[in-house]
Amino acid sequence: MNDYTKVPEVMISAEEIAQRVKEMGEAIARDLDERDLTVVGVLKGSFVFMADLVRAIERPLTCDFLGLSSYGSATESSGVVAITKDLGDPVENKHVLVIEDIIDTGLTMAYLLENLATRRPASVKIASLLSKPARRRVEIDIDYLGFTIEDRFVVGYGLDFDGRYRNLPYIGTMD
Ligand code: IMP
Repeated sequence: MNDYTKVPEVMISAEEIAQRVKEMGEAIARDLDERDLTVVGVLKGSFVFMADLVRAIERPLTCDFLGLSSYGSATESSGVVAITKDLGDPVENKHVLVIEDIIDTGLTMAYLLENLATRRPASVKIASLLSKPARRRVEIDIDYLGFTIEDRFVVGYGLDFDGRYRNLPYIGTMD
């Protein structure tokens, strides 16, 4: 039995996240010019980050969600990805910003980019709160990155272990 009452150690505080998310939102708004943006959150992990990030982008935008589930153990992705919830609207000819919680092996994002390309968007950019480059198996060009972290399993601010800890206001370590 897992003990979900264990309090994870702080790796990135809520204050550090808030500051970085604000900077990312400003950078995205600057790059957008006059273009309308469709922000696509990858569920479930990105929902907390996305909620804060869109409020930091002072430009017109629409929000949509894509549910992805990657098979594997609680802490390892296998690269086999299933769409559990598809986009609500077509993204053809739209400027898309994909929001991820973390790019780890990169397999999930590689799958997603391939899938999105078939829908003919005008452009696709990626914003990820975290990146673990030590574990990368496919190269991913992250346009807006919050923090690069070492190879440790993290939870909080949307990221889970066994479905728990998504509501933690900071990024913490479990090991
Ligand atoms: P990738 O396909 O290996 O890049 O994994 C991407 C997905 O694995 C993320 O969207 C997370 O849901 C999950 N993941 C990877 N590393 C962690 C972690 O340290 N904590 C929680 N989830 C993680």
